[in-house]
Amino acid sequence: MKVVETIAEMKRLREELRRAGLRIGFVPTMGALHEGHLSLMRVARRETDRVVVSIFVNPTQFGPREDFSKYPRQLADDCRMCEGVGVDVVFAPPVKEMYPEGYCTFVEQTRLTDVLCGAARPGHFRGVTTVVTKLFNIVAPDVTYFGQKDFQQTVVIKRMAADLDMDVKVVVLPTVREPDGLAMSSRNKYLSPSERKDALCLYRALQRAEALVKAGERKASVLMAEVTNFISAVPKAKIDYVAVADPESLAPVNEIGREAVVALAVRIGTTRLIDNAVLQPSTINH
Ligand code: PAJ
Repeated sequence: MKVVETIAEMKRLREELRRAGLRIGFVPTMGALHEGHLSLMRVARRETDRVVVSIFVNPTQFGPREDFSKYPRQLADDCRMCEGVGVDVVFAPPVKEMYPEGYCTFVEQTRLTDVLCGAARPGHFRGVTTVVTKLFNIVAPDVTYFGQKDFQQTVVIKRMAADLDMDVKVVVLPTVREPDGLAMSSRNKYLSPSERKDALCLYRALQRAEALVKAGERKASVLMAEVTNFISAVPKAKIDYVAVADPESLAPVNEIGREAVVALAVRIGTTRLIDNAVLQPSTINH
């Protein structure tokens, strides 16, 4: 496995692969890897000829009071994990390589980024769309893999790739969870043992929403109220948002007829966690 730190070297490698007619699978990450990330790499390994993983804690997607400086960094461990699942190239550039002196160009999406996490974290998706565009330009992947865990991010990236005519197929894979149901996240490392227990309320609340829909409930307002009450009962949990939305437009849904997504962001102490569940028509039409 190669570890590459410069854009020039990454481009040289990708040209070599492309000239050999090999299909490149790409998994962008911010490191502190866990099974959620590895699941994307395993599918990339299966579906493409060469797997490139980027590990880059992207400063432009963090707000001024967010956790950029304390975000976990463990490149040596991450590289071992990548090697273990058969990754071919890790691209881990320093910040100055991606954003040199004088950098001033950003990719900004409207509408889809004004809601949910975009409303709570102004500028966040502008940083995500900018860095992902740069990474696509550098790696030139045929297929790229994203996790459903960050639901809005998948919608934003798919739309960006379509709108900007990017030659990349965006594949979205299911959320990987801890045995008790907590969605795996690099930020789970911030949780104290008691917060770790409280953090389970996100998954439990989503399960509750799913059960209600299965039992015939169709009103988003009722689902949202149930989820809100459930989470509010946990003293250390503070709701950022609870939403029932259309999975493509992210517009609020009032009545659940077709597929819808229940998405939530909750602060457990100072740690902000997100999770979501897609209500499939099969769960709806029982
Ligand atoms: P990061 O949070 O490191 O996540 C990298 C990828 O792993 C994303 O596609 C994310 O959805 C996926 N992922 C995280 N937890 C997961 C889980 N429990 N199950 C399945 N997939 C999971 O998302 C980012 O980094 C950044 O915004 C990035 C796209 C790299 C741009 O900087």
